[in-house]
Amino acid sequence: MNSSSLKHWLLNLLERGDSIRCKDYEKEIEALKLKLGSKHNKVFITSRDKIIKVIDEIKSEFGNIFTEEVIKCYVYEELSLGELTPLIMDDNLEEIMVVARERHVFVYNRLRGMTPTQIFIDEEKIRKLIGKIAKYSGRKISNASPLLDARLPDGSRVNATLQGVSPRGSTITIRKFRREPLTITDLIRYGTLSAYSAAFLWLAVEGMHSRPANIIVIGGTASGKTTTLNALSSFIPEDERIISIEDVLEINLAHEHWIPLETRPPDSEGNEITMDDLLKNALRMRPDRMIVGEVRAEEALTLFTAMNTGHDGCIATLHANSARETLNRLRSHPMNVPDIMIPALNLIVSQRRQVEKGKVVRRVFEIVEISGTEGNNILTNTLFKFDIKSEEIKEVILSGRYIEELSTLNNMRIIDIKTEISRREALLELMVEKNLNSRDIHNIIQLYYNSPDMAMNNLIHSTTDSGVIMGRSGNRRGLLGI
Ligand SMILES: Nc1ncnc2c1ncn2[C@@H]1O[C@H](COP(=O)(O)OP(=O)(O)OP(=O)(O)O)[C@@H](O)[C@H]1O
Ligand SMILES: [Mg+2]
Repeated sequence: MNSSSLKHWLLNLLERGDSIRCKDYEKEIEALKLKLGSKHNKVFITSRDKIIKVIDEIKSEFGNIFTEEVIKCYVYEELSLGELTPLIMDDNLEEIMVVARERHVFVYNRLRGMTPTQIFIDEEKIRKLIGKIAKYSGRKISNASPLLDARLPDGSRVNATLQGVSPRGSTITIRKFRREPLTITDLIRYGTLSAYSAAFLWLAVEGMHSRPANIIVIGGTASGKTTTLNALSSFIPEDERIISIEDVLEINLAHEHWIPLETRPPDSEGNEITMDDLLKNALRMRPDRMIVGEVRAEEALTLFTAMNTGHDGCIATLHANSARETLNRLRSHPMNVPDIMIPALNLIVSQRRQVEKGKVVRRVFEIVEISGTEGNNILTNTLFKFDIKSEEIKEVILSGRYIEELSTLNNMRIIDIKTEISRREALLELMVEKNLNSRDIHNIIQLYYNSPDMAMNNLIHSTTDSGVIMGRSGNRRGLLGI
């Protein structure tokens, strides 16, 4: 470790040194529990706002009897995730990781990356927390079945393992849910996409009313695949019926006509509902759009069968490091997609997480299209590529198979399609400048489909950091309206 990273490490150790030692207040917490009676029976809260609200409520009732530390400890220990609660409330953290008993709990800080905290949890407590999470999600974890995928009440995704399979102690990994999902304009602002490449993807997702592209977003762990999938899905027109399928719900859309489906692990009788089951079922639900979070196994074949039988505009994620690797994975076990089906996929959007000048950055480094097959070879075109010099993803050649298809279907010249992309680029740039919230971005995009000029005008005349632009209800829904 060099001296600067050692300094960071130490700073972070100190930074978390002020967390309350709730063990010191056990008696007072019991007394407060007695006073509250059954008021919080079965309450489990993990969202920052709700935690603060409950603390304030108790403070206003019992603040003259109990100190703030005691009230906070009651809420953390009894209603939330104990020592992990201050971490779950911290918006700067992406991930919270209990790695083993009595070891530093680690966090992944948005700016600084992986850092240890001064929090240590014993095995009994880790198990208690896992039990609480499993119970909330209606899922089972036991020595016989020691793995858990679940989510917290605020929508955060959780994985847990018991000591039987993680010998250094049971583990918890929490991918924190963002209260405000990252939008397409955030991705442009953070340099993940350029406004032009985002405008191209907008055109592809929507498909100019004629031919939405089938897209797979790929990348390594935590490279931002699901986030990009979510941001791209926001381009789907409101009049289309969307069905999303995930192991644990993470996708969060503003669309009214959206049905999220979630897999179910086997219960004691072995009843399991897999991604493939849900995808097959979704095909019987008259979907206009199918969104699949993380294609891993046989559902790939179902997805490609759907794409090959007229279901356009499917968007999915897949764990792979390059377009080539994606194609290899799709064509081999357990996905087993026959070569002949592969060209139904239009675009592979490759993303990665990297450290640049000491900061963590997510970059879409390549957008590749499948242009056809030649014998056993799958042919591809690189449409966009990340340019190290300008630190921006740049067009390589746009007019490949997909744009040509759009040109034929819409009876438009390629140059006119490019003009349309540029028009959307200008709108996106303005949305970035105006710093719109996700609801307003959704409204502008949907308005654009009815009247591009009106969308541009509304945007030009809106004020920065605006509220609701279009007069539609400004209700902000969280995941599934929770
Ligand atoms: N473009 C981005 N810029 C900044 N932060 C991002 C970006 N994309 C994602 N993130 C953040 O990175 C974390 C991981 O993102 P996400 O869940 O989308 O990754 P993933 O590739 O789907 O991960 P996994 O492999 O675990 O499914 C989240 O906390 C998310 O908010
Ligand atoms: Mg993901």
